[in-house]
Amino acid sequence: MAKARTYYFCQECGYQSSSWIGRCPECGKWNTFVEEVVKASSPKPSKEGSYGKAVPKRIQEVTYSETERIPTHCAEFDRVLGGGIVPGSLLLLGGEPGIGKSTLLLQTALAITDRRLLYVSGEESEQQIRMRADRIGIHADNCFVVSETVTQRIFEHIDAVQPDLLVVDSIQTVVTEDVDSPAGSVSQIRQCTTEFQHYAKTTGVPVLLIGHITKDGTLAGPKVMEHIVDAVLQFEGDRNYGFRILRALKNRFGSTSEIGIFEMRGSGLAEVSNPSSLLLSHHDEELSGTAVAATVQGARPMFVEVQSLVSSAVYGTPQRNANGFDMRRMNMLLAVLEKRCGFKLGAKDVFLNMAGGLRVSDPALDLAVACSILSSNVDMPISPRYCFAAELGLSGEVRPVSRIENRVGEAARLGFERIFISKYDLRNLEQNKYNIQIIGVSVIEEAFRNLFENN
Ligand code: TYD
Ligand code: MG
Repeated sequence: MAKARTYYFCQECGYQSSSWIGRCPECGKWNTFVEEVVKASSPKPSKEGSYGKAVPKRIQEVTYSETERIPTHCAEFDRVLGGGIVPGSLLLLGGEPGIGKSTLLLQTALAITDRRLLYVSGEESEQQIRMRADRIGIHADNCFVVSETVTQRIFEHIDAVQPDLLVVDSIQTVVTEDVDSPAGSVSQIRQCTTEFQHYAKTTGVPVLLIGHITKDGTLAGPKVMEHIVDAVLQFEGDRNYGFRILRALKNRFGSTSEIGIFEMRGSGLAEVSNPSSLLLSHHDEELSGTAVAATVQGARPMFVEVQSLVSSAVYGTPQRNANGFDMRRMNMLLAVLEKRCGFKLGAKDVFLNMAGGLRVSDPALDLAVACSILSSNVDMPISPRYCFAAELGLSGEVRPVSRIENRVGEAARLGFERIFISKYDLRNLEQNKYNIQIIGVSVIEEAFRNLFENN
């Protein structure tokens, strides 16, 4: 008879303690400890390890084949994964409720028509999954669905179906009989993930797990999972807009700088292969406070419209708000503009917004953000045919950014007339190769003079 013991686990980071404590010594969070009962007989890996007896080999003797990856038939998803799903890998897809995680993975499962798939849902009934599949509009013969929450029974279904790919929606709803605590608790999540990892590594069948995210944007509980899984993907976006970004926070088999862009439609998620055309609002009239940033996500250029509004503060303390951009970075840029360039922004309300509701992080956004703020401040528009790509330093200097050829090339291709970059980037650029006027600036005032004083 297995002996059960009570432990206390930090629900944030999974730290284990034999008594209740108020503040987690590991992650420093308060009031996160919850009592969980763990049976002493939790399966331990055998002495031989879970992969059988291993013999050290020379690294050159180890063979693998790239073609083994399972393509998802979705270019955006493949891009984030680094070219398809690696056999035997364990993936975690995180995201806020309602963002479209179940839709993305069901759609992917339905699209992989040349393999057997098993979609296990602990959240929805089989009828609900069928309704969703009908909505997506793909009819696949080899996709099996089952509504189940106990891992032991999930493995029975796996034995019966013998899938080539397994999807589990979501890890917070599945439980193992080996642990007595409720679904979603740290010890359940850890144990269930380990079981799926063991299954994936021993059979070579990739497993995709869905995980929920807490209000503050971290994966609930599964902090403990992040170490176990091979890749952590995050699905994000503003629910009021249709765009969704898929990015890899960790990827053992690919880059973490690539992003995939989707649009939520009435019939599921559609791939967005040319994001710039969607993210730029197509107005011809010149409006003050907008500037276009030439950003690069992974290897792909993406043009984003930055909008800002600067107005005199009505209340004593000026309001600052940034949507889709780091607030601290905005405050830093405001301080630079104030201190180095003498713009009196300290008593102004400043609101910043990235068009389309997308959150993009690229240092090259700085110059566009600064110029859009200045444009709104002096109430003079910047031509929609101009774009910007440079970082700003604390002394107001305009600094070079990576992949400048990509940015300039794409700007020329999209028909922009003028691009503002750092003077130091000019050296690395064959200027007459591009059909666009390239302005290299070394300090922010130069950009300001070029934009607002010449015309
Ligand atoms: P869902 O995949 O259930 O989100 P999650 O699993 O992350 O909680 O998707 C939820 C939203 O997506 C829901 O509010 C409705 C919307 N949706 C569409 O707009 N079109 C569709 O075809 C589908 C299936 C969902
Ligand atoms: Mg769901």
